[in-house]
Amino acid sequence: MAVVNYKDLGLVNTRDMFKKAMKGGYAVPAYNFNNMEQLQAIIQACVETASPLILQVSKGAREYANQTLLRYMAQGATEYAKEINDGKLIPICLHLDHGPDFETCKSCIDYGFSSVMIDGSHFSFEENIELTKKVVEYAHKYDVTVEGELGVLAGIEDDVKAAKHIYTQPDEVESFVKATGVDSLAIAIGTSHGAYKFKPGDDPKIRLDILAEIEKRIPGFPIVLHGSSSVPQDLVKIINENGGKLKDAIGIGEDQLRKAAKSAVCKINIDSDGRLAMTAAIRKVMNDKPAEFDPRKYLGPAREALKKLYIHKNIEVLGSAGHAFD
Ligand code: G3H
Ligand code: 13P
Ligand code: ZN
Repeated sequence: MAVVNYKDLGLVNTRDMFKKAMKGGYAVPAYNFNNMEQLQAIIQACVETASPLILQVSKGAREYANQTLLRYMAQGATEYAKEINDGKLIPICLHLDHGPDFETCKSCIDYGFSSVMIDGSHFSFEENIELTKKVVEYAHKYDVTVEGELGVLAGIEDDVKAAKHIYTQPDEVESFVKATGVDSLAIAIGTSHGAYKFKPGDDPKIRLDILAEIEKRIPGFPIVLHGSSSVPQDLVKIINENGGKLKDAIGIGEDQLRKAAKSAVCKINIDSDGRLAMTAAIRKVMNDKPAEFDPRKYLGPAREALKKLYIHKNIEVLGSAGHAFD
């Protein structure tokens, strides 16, 4: 497959997006997708709320959907976004989520991604710097932006499972950013991956004090929050009332995320809430209409539920609605 530059696909990198988000006091949504219905829901929600958008693809998603097909889906997404918005294209970035190594980042850049994350958070500080710097050097040749990570989130990321948070140390951020040349930094301040984040009765808090300390060390530098699903309890209830067996769990409160979005946090990653919304809608159709076997009859409602969720996030949580054409 020939190397392609993201600019030819109608995509943008994160540089301008983050500058505007920082100034406007909101965060750009980063929503993961693996299939057509998720992509349609994300595009429709962001066009309808006039929000900038980061489309995220994990290594697992690339393997699931096929890297070539995904790249054309993203190109199709920019055409689709224009078509449903009188020819006006909202800013769309195609981003690799949790890039595990240089080769995956390079491959994504060559396939037309406009942004990549290199997740060296599980390595030593020095190894993380070395790996991140190598990715930045390659990416910047093509004007592709790079997200690095310092600190470890609890929960599951692809194959890596961490039982506890290792909060980002404010003392390390300045030298990491300087030494690597990254364009944004994911930090660990209490959020966590997956649907089983915290137990009912816990009072999960984002460590806004650590965030403020980090902001002091790298003023105006774009910060990224992973693991930012809120695990809506109404969705968990629908799933379990319709044959599901999800364990009781809660996520990060939306009020906490709204506060973070007003600060230097310019990108907020949400995947699990979308999975819950789709699963709830599909389980309900399967339970209510057991004779149904046309996939459009359950994937259609799942797409609608996802769209509703993303519209809510853009307006009420991230504050990105209305900022596409700032
Ligand atoms: O943080 C991880 C994302 O939710 C992607 O998950 O690796 O299962 O596609 P995945
Ligand atoms: P959630 O599992 O909280 O949705 O986090 C997603 C994420 O961080 C993707 O990188
Ligand atoms: Zn993540």
